[in-house]
Amino acid sequence: MAEVKLTDLDKSYDNGKSFVLKNINLHIEDGEFVAFVGPSGCGKSTLLRMICGLEDISSGLLELGGERANEMPPNERRVGMVFQSYALYPHMSVRENMEFGLKLAKVNKAEINRRVAEAAKMLQLEKLLERRPKALSGGQRQRVAIGRSIVQEPRLFLFDEPLSNLDVALRVQMRQELARLRARLKTTSIYVTHDQVEAMTLADRIVVLSPLADGAQTNLEQVGAPLELYHNPCNLFVASFIGSPKMNFFRATIVVCGQSESKIKLECGTELTVCNDTSNASAGDKVTLGIRPQDVLKQDSNDAGKNWITGTIETIERLGNESFVYMKHPDIHEAFIARIEDSTRRECGSEFRVGVPAENCHLFDADGRVFKRTQSPKFD
Ligand SMILES: Nc1ncnc2c1ncn2[C@@H]1O[C@H](COP(=O)(O)OP(=O)(O)O)[C@@H](O)[C@H]1O
Ligand SMILES: [Mg+2]
Repeated sequence: MAEVKLTDLDKSYDNGKSFVLKNINLHIEDGEFVAFVGPSGCGKSTLLRMICGLEDISSGLLELGGERANEMPPNERRVGMVFQSYALYPHMSVRENMEFGLKLAKVNKAEINRRVAEAAKMLQLEKLLERRPKALSGGQRQRVAIGRSIVQEPRLFLFDEPLSNLDVALRVQMRQELARLRARLKTTSIYVTHDQVEAMTLADRIVVLSPLADGAQTNLEQVGAPLELYHNPCNLFVASFIGSPKMNFFRATIVVCGQSESKIKLECGTELTVCNDTSNASAGDKVTLGIRPQDVLKQDSNDAGKNWITGTIETIERLGNESFVYMKHPDIHEAFIARIEDSTRRECGSEFRVGVPAENCHLFDADGRVFKRTQSPKFD
């Protein structure tokens, strides 16, 4: 097993003219499971390929197990990769696919058998060992690809969107299987995905990456435990990326600044109290209010103080256990969403009032940086 340390890591092309990754600093502990998330093209795969040695490091330091690894040949890094495309050998059985790398490395037969048997048991592939890949489902093939990596006994696993080729139902099932596997296999792992739900459910910590903006110092946005990112996103990018449906955003202006409480005004003229420290801002500053669809209160709840936003219901998504009400207001720029449990009494076109508890508000400055929350969030 190994810890992974990235210090000021950069990746550029064209002799440093175009950067994909800049100033990536990250310390992954031995045995940790970390997810890299971010939109397509932000450099997740590139970063993973730099760690396993398939891509050069433009500048900065990569350490594996406490040792400089920038120039270490890939086969000496003892890193196991699992890709989106399983790339199994079609003419070989499951067993032969899993044995192949070990045979190349001239591992003795008894040891090969032991490792394959152990991995097959862990991945529930024991009954499938003599089958060819074409006789397997997508999920089974992905398990073989993982098995082929496990038998190498790497000190670090790298997964690059391993589930994105699978249909939704299978993806949910494989996610469970990966979570179970994770509990048994204590190997340090990095898991790349653009799916924030996968990252939230599997990872000890999440690293949020964004496409590198012109002039930006780095494209590493935030690192933290899943619920830390959910409850305390450090900027608008992370706030809008983590959580589903997305956090609602409202353009607003500060009316009264304060250390523990502030007053803001929405485009529609509504004034709201929020529990964010705006002592370093000024009245009149443009800000963005963020509130999650899950964090609003029902219109008949008395709990929201005087904080209400009223809109007209455009559509209702009824999912059975919960519903999402999509609302519009003529003077509010964007549509907003509220999650409610019981939507039977609601209909499109009618007015709907949602409570916005001051403690549940996120507030961002004009550059997208968060104003610290001064209270813990409150739930219905
Ligand atoms: N040889 C190259 N020259 C210039 N840019 C490249 C090259 N290879 C990849 N890129 C750029 O690197 C970015 C990151 O790609 P990638 O790591 O695959 O993103 P992700 O895995 O997050 O979707 C992309 O925007 C891509 O255009
Ligand atoms: Mg990728």
